[in-house]
Amino acid sequence: MKTYFRLLSFAKPIEKFAIPYIITTLLAVLFGVLNLTLLAPLFGVMMSDEKPAPAPTDAPASNFNVMAKFQEFANHSLATNGPEKTLTYICIIIIISVLLSNIFKYFSQRTMEDLRVHTLLNLRKTVFNNVMNLHVGYFNNERKGDIISKVSSDVQVVQFTVTNTLQVVFKEPVTLIFYIIALLMISVKLTLFSLMVIPISAFIISKIVKRLKQQAKESHESFAKMIGFLDEALGGIKIIKAFNATQRIKDKFHAENVFYSNLNRKMVRRQQLGSPVSEFLGVLMVSFIVWYGGSLTMSKQPGALSVGQFISYIAIFSQVMRPAKALTDAFSGIHSGIAAGERVLELIDTKPQMVNKPGAETIKGFNQAVTFENVSFSYGTKEVLRSINLTIQKGKTVALVGPSGGGKSTLMDLIPRFHDAKSGTIKIDGHDYRDLTVESIRAQMGTVNQESLLFNDTIFNNIAFAKPEATEEEVVNAAKIANAHDFILNTEDGYQTFVGDRGNRLSGGQKQRICIARAVLANPPIMLLDEATSALDTESEKLVQEALNNLMKNRTSIVIAHRLSTIQHADQIAVIDKGQVIEMGNHSELITHNGLYKRLIDMQTFTD
Ligand SMILES: Nc1ncnc2c1ncn2[C@@H]1O[C@H](COP(=O)(O)OP(=O)(O)O)[C@@H](O)[C@H]1O
Ligand SMILES: [Mg+2]
Repeated sequence: MKTYFRLLSFAKPIEKFAIPYIITTLLAVLFGVLNLTLLAPLFGVMMSDEKPAPAPTDAPASNFNVMAKFQEFANHSLATNGPEKTLTYICIIIIISVLLSNIFKYFSQRTMEDLRVHTLLNLRKTVFNNVMNLHVGYFNNERKGDIISKVSSDVQVVQFTVTNTLQVVFKEPVTLIFYIIALLMISVKLTLFSLMVIPISAFIISKIVKRLKQQAKESHESFAKMIGFLDEALGGIKIIKAFNATQRIKDKFHAENVFYSNLNRKMVRRQQLGSPVSEFLGVLMVSFIVWYGGSLTMSKQPGALSVGQFISYIAIFSQVMRPAKALTDAFSGIHSGIAAGERVLELIDTKPQMVNKPGAETIKGFNQAVTFENVSFSYGTKEVLRSINLTIQKGKTVALVGPSGGGKSTLMDLIPRFHDAKSGTIKIDGHDYRDLTVESIRAQMGTVNQESLLFNDTIFNNIAFAKPEATEEEVVNAAKIANAHDFILNTEDGYQTFVGDRGNRLSGGQKQRICIARAVLANPPIMLLDEATSALDTESEKLVQEALNNLMKNRTSIVIAHRLSTIQHADQIAVIDKGQVIEMGNHSELITHNGLYKRLIDMQTFTD
């Protein structure tokens, strides 16, 4: 129930929809019931050789008794205007009432549709915004499929449920009440008798839907897995084909697909069982009423129903079944909706671990140094960095080298504060990172790494990503510095060429140079370069290295390079192994030291 109201809060401002909805629905229901009630006088008139029907005597005697009033009017008209005219009048009134009922119905449905779209819009926006705010550490591959399926399919399920149940919470009960009032007006006895059957059918239906919620949860998890898998398979299509693994991947997908489909089949079967069961119970009820009401009519006792009233009663009663059925249907659907809702809310409620502390300051520029003081870091329980002490002076180039898996990339991720250190402090110009806003720290830095990420957009927009208001001249200048201008001019539409999904229409070296141009344009004081050339062939490596050298000019840079020759001139080289800085110094100092660095250098000169 709590989940339900939370979900409903996304429909805000709900009054904007609820008030028109309530009014139009009330009117639609009112006129709808009126039509059927009018059947009684209609039949009365048609069988007017029978004496005019008396107003029902066991009905509650109130001013609200439309039924009796109308009967009176029919009788009066019958006496003064004759049966033909009266019949015409009644038909005209029925037509007008049907028309009004349908007009109001249309408007009430329209309001509901607006509400549905509005809720969906809000919910999607909230989920996406929250996901974008989450800390970098939250995102890993298993979660990707999960997030995608939450934002795409779960939100859809939620909106149907929320609006469906809104309809159920308000419209159907109101309809039901109106019908029941009409029924009571015709015959209290008969109505009390027929209402006894409702709790019995409700009980049976609730038994059927009980297991649905658990199944809905499993079904979602399976769907999320499939989405994650799909994403991975599409991204890795070349590798899959190269390893002739297509069949294996197909089989794996098929297995999950079969599991998902079976589960869904079970759920739908269960859900659908509700409808025939309630329908059968409904017919059973009507039969009882025909039997009981018919015998009341035939008894011709004082206060018994007239034939017209009895027909009207059956007509209204058959309508009672519709809202009653809608109620049971909606409640069997509500489980999957609430389950989906809980999943979406879970994502909305996930708090980013990296939040600016209250009163965090912004740092305006970078003037002295970034320092690591006794910094340790772990992913979960796995310690990756231990007691790192490192100072990165403004204007200097610091290189991180060492065996792979040693923690270089992790260390570099701490500099733009993608993660917070588990212990120790990182400072920029003497300010503890934790006292500063994340955004202002990141504004001092630019990144180029191994996987150059481009967006499916034009070259121009990809370069201008960090500075959307950049002029054409600025973009071209950045491209020139990044050694990219010439190849860009040679593409089909120059700067307006679309790069394709993740930039796949460009070569690795071209992508990388666009990324460098992006960093050049952003012009941050600190550059972080993580193996920016390691995915490239020798030819483009040269071009990119040149571009990088341009980029690093007059800047503070932290470089991880797999080709050690490129960092020989770094001001400071930190050798990182198993999460610790084991050697530190410039190239010649480390060579004389004759440690790990020397061994790595020897290995490379040997392979070169
Ligand atoms: N997101 C992550 N979650 C868990 N472990 C990770 C993650 N990223 C890296 N690691 C682990 O941390 C260690 C250091 O990785 P990394 O910093 O990438 O090393 P390097 O860049 O020096 O090759 C490795 O053992 C790696 O398995
Ligand atoms: Mg790395």
